[in-house]
Amino acid sequence: MSSRGPGGMLRPRPEDDMEEVRRPPDRKLRKLLPYFAPYKGRAILTVLLMLVVTATGLAGPALAQVAIDHGIRAGDEGTVLLAVILFVGAGLVGLVAGYWQSYMSSWVGERVLLDLRTALFRHMMRLELGYHERVPTGRSVSRLTSDIEALDSLVTEGATSLIINGLTFVGVVVILFAYDWQLAAMAFAIFPLLALGTGAFRVTSARAYRRTREKVADVLSVLQETLSGMKVVQGYGRQEPARQSFRRANDEYREANMATIRLSGLYFPGIELLSGVGLLLILWFGSNRVLDGEISIGVMVAFIGYLSSFFDPIQQLSQLYSTFQSAMAALEKILGVLETEPTLTDAPDAVDLPQMRGEITLTGVSFGYRPDRPVIHELDLHIAAGESVALVGATGAGKSTLAKLIARFYDPQSGVVAIDGHDLRAVTQSSLRAQLAIVPQEGHLFAGTLRDNLAFGCTGEVTDQRLVDALEAVGGEDLLAGLPEGLDTPITERGSGLSAGQRQLVAFARALAADPRLLILDEATSSVDVRTEQRIEQAMEALLPGRTSVLIAHRLSTIRKSDRIVVLEQGRIVEQGSHDVLMELGGRYAGLYGDWEKATTGWATETA
Ligand SMILES: Nc1ncnc2c1ncn2[C@@H]1O[C@H](COP(=O)(O)OP(=O)(O)O)[C@@H](O)[C@H]1O
Ligand SMILES: [Mg+2]
Repeated sequence: MSSRGPGGMLRPRPEDDMEEVRRPPDRKLRKLLPYFAPYKGRAILTVLLMLVVTATGLAGPALAQVAIDHGIRAGDEGTVLLAVILFVGAGLVGLVAGYWQSYMSSWVGERVLLDLRTALFRHMMRLELGYHERVPTGRSVSRLTSDIEALDSLVTEGATSLIINGLTFVGVVVILFAYDWQLAAMAFAIFPLLALGTGAFRVTSARAYRRTREKVADVLSVLQETLSGMKVVQGYGRQEPARQSFRRANDEYREANMATIRLSGLYFPGIELLSGVGLLLILWFGSNRVLDGEISIGVMVAFIGYLSSFFDPIQQLSQLYSTFQSAMAALEKILGVLETEPTLTDAPDAVDLPQMRGEITLTGVSFGYRPDRPVIHELDLHIAAGESVALVGATGAGKSTLAKLIARFYDPQSGVVAIDGHDLRAVTQSSLRAQLAIVPQEGHLFAGTLRDNLAFGCTGEVTDQRLVDALEAVGGEDLLAGLPEGLDTPITERGSGLSAGQRQLVAFARALAADPRLLILDEATSSVDVRTEQRIEQAMEALLPGRTSVLIAHRLSTIRKSDRIVVLEQGRIVEQGSHDVLMELGGRYAGLYGDWEKATTGWATETA
């Protein structure tokens, strides 16, 4: 086995809270470059088209200058005509180039984002269960949706706007200084004011936009909580408070939005005003210079023409700033996920676990979800191949945790979990998981057909017969008979449309169809009614022989039938043996059993 550090949980993982990691935008954007690589040709073409768009946009006032100075004033009709033709030509070229440029930039952008989203999803699939238990589902969903959207507006429109407006701005400055540096200097005298205003706008609007993002997240979380808890909300008649808190979150969101609108309402007319002042300066000093014979009328007209091409880009770029900000925040979070290394990876020299006999050995296993709070202490347990072992103990004793360690959803911090003598850290996860099946308390069903759900854990060719057999073996023939569409019955999200008991039957059949060597049932029957449970129990007699099984159950009948009972208390084994032996011992198990019996008979007499 390869040497490795302590279990992954010991490592600090600040990246789970991705907001905290900050790095300069260029370092983030560089991480995005590999996603552009497959589309390099088209990306370059897009940039070239942007150059054409910018150049044609800048041509107008210069052509007007030529037409006025060398055509009209020189009385040369040919030059005027030529300038007009060039003007129209530039307009047409600009139009066509503009169309292709926006088509191409969206083409590239959408593909890059699709690839990124796919890579992100694939990475999330690689992250261990521990990650998904730590990070709320809503947060992972927003990485894949709203954060990608935020990047979308940058990659498609933002990049275009940045390049074209940036080039236009630089172009105008260069052209104007080339015409007449004194008039240009005068026109740009308002620049410091402009820069100051824009800077202030940038800072305050970034703050305001951050607030709107926080507020919209609040709205979403109220929504998600209320909608997913609808049964409880309506059951307790809490619609009104829910309405109110939704209303409140919405109000705050609206208020935050209004703040950004007020800022824009100040800034953009402010720019207009400055642009008016600029025009005034050009008219005033420009006409003086024309009268003095320092510049031609054409140059002055060109100055007026270019002035709007000078202010527009500044407005556009400052608008872009908020897009850029939110895209950078989103990129940070996306990278945070992508850079979270899975802690449960296959060792480089991992081997496939051979056909499992099913002997499980835990030696000196200690584990805690957090290193400072151990849940399992120095635990030794040997389960022979084919044995069925029931884990019992109070809630929080560590039964589920032990099951998760056996399935290697977590690695122990010390000690070894082995199957057939193979340390689980030295075998490939796929070969391990292919040979075991877990039925949790609520077997999750997925949207799809009944067939899809039953075949979920199967490898290789799956015949309908195998699935029907599995369903019948767990006593689900009534269920199947009640569904007119049979295996083709669509199962909606989370299996709504089926009762909890029916869903659990499907989960059992799914496990059986996979024909695992090792079966782990974690309170699998605790959500079904007594009759269903009895049928499942009968079915389990057919299910268990020949397989190793770890059963976590609250019900006596299940426990009594297992070969051995292991009693856990606060992460330690306190008793183990057969039912009879433990009863005779008169210890913890006998105590638990007494409580159960009392509860069951109490219940029985009450309902009788
Ligand atoms: N995902 C988790 N993250 C942090 N602590 C957990 C997690 N799951 C369980 N625990 C803690 O571990 C202890 C054992 O839990 P568990 O194994 O689920 O107990 P049982 O299944 O016996 O009821 C409990 O104290 C519980 O709070
Ligand atoms: Mg549990």
